[in-house]
Amino acid sequence: MKIAIIGGAGQMGEWFSGFFKKAGYDVVISGRRYRKCLEVSKKLGVRAVRKNTEAVEGADIIMVSVLPQYMEDVLKEIAPHIRENQKVIDIASVKAVPVRLMHTYVNNALVLGTHPMFGPSAMKENQNFILTPTNAKERRYASELGKFLKKQGFKVRIMSPDDHDSMIGDVLSLTHFIGLVTADTWKRLGVDKHMKTSSTSFRFLSDFVKSVVDSNPGLYSYLQMEVRDAEKAERIFIESANKWADLVKNKNRKEFSTSMTKLSRYVNEIQSNWK
Ligand SMILES: NC(=O)c1ccc[n+]([C@@H]2O[C@H](COP(=O)([O-])OP(=O)(O)OC[C@H]3O[C@@H](n4cnc5c(N)ncnc54)[C@H](OP(=O)(O)O)[C@@H]3O)[C@@H](O)[C@H]2O)c1
Repeated sequence: MKIAIIGGAGQMGEWFSGFFKKAGYDVVISGRRYRKCLEVSKKLGVRAVRKNTEAVEGADIIMVSVLPQYMEDVLKEIAPHIRENQKVIDIASVKAVPVRLMHTYVNNALVLGTHPMFGPSAMKENQNFILTPTNAKERRYASELGKFLKKQGFKVRIMSPDDHDSMIGDVLSLTHFIGLVTADTWKRLGVDKHMKTSSTSFRFLSDFVKSVVDSNPGLYSYLQMEVRDAEKAERIFIESANKWADLVKNKNRKEFSTSMTKLSRYVNEIQSNWK
């Protein structure tokens, strides 16, 4: 089985090159900069080619692994080279627009939107992998791909592109926003002077904050500014921050404790549903 990964020298592209190579696939990668592709090629033992259209030739599966804002350019370029028996999947962190673009440009082959809910440095076991089929053919392929992914240790979830995107505002955009605001607050407070005396919970939070600020600014700004409902989640976060700041300012210990106990119940319940 041969897979072409467009954007194969990017963070996720490199990760998937290694993943498919290990699973026994013949992997070919292309990207904007051939030199970067050659480096990945040497490191992982996959084939690098100069052009996206060259990568597409003879591949069973074409995985588009570029930032969502570049999807349309890539699809326009490769669409005339795609044959009926090939499958085109994307891994963009939003789904409604990329899936619509794949349907617009690829009209002779099967397409499927997917979203691995993890970054390139995360462990693969127990990670969610979302598939967003939109018709019977895509659902059949999602079931086939899902079986393969489950065997590889992923939790496969199937949903519509729209349901996926309304979840992303709450799950990804808000999480990144909290990480960025926390880092900004620490910088203004000058917390560096406390690093040597910090607590376990501070170090735990600082690992999370580091993972956010070290991520791809092009992707993260897209997930703040183009995801429907991101602004709503962030507005509610700010309202909650103000509510808790008022409890503190007014020294309302009773309400503070009651609210904290209720939240503990809520978070434990949602965590047990997830496990
Ligand atoms: N990073 C994550 O945590 C994560 C998690 C899940 C899903 N995703 C999704 O995965 C996709 C890739 O994200 P990423 O983090 O891997 O981004 P990335 O590191 O920026 O990689 C994207 C790659 O695409 C290449 N590229 C851009 N335009 C291209 C074109 N016209 N033709 C061929 N290659 C092109 C880039 O080349 P240059 O470097 O030369 O610009 C880069 O190597 C995105 O859709 C993102 O939403 C990311």
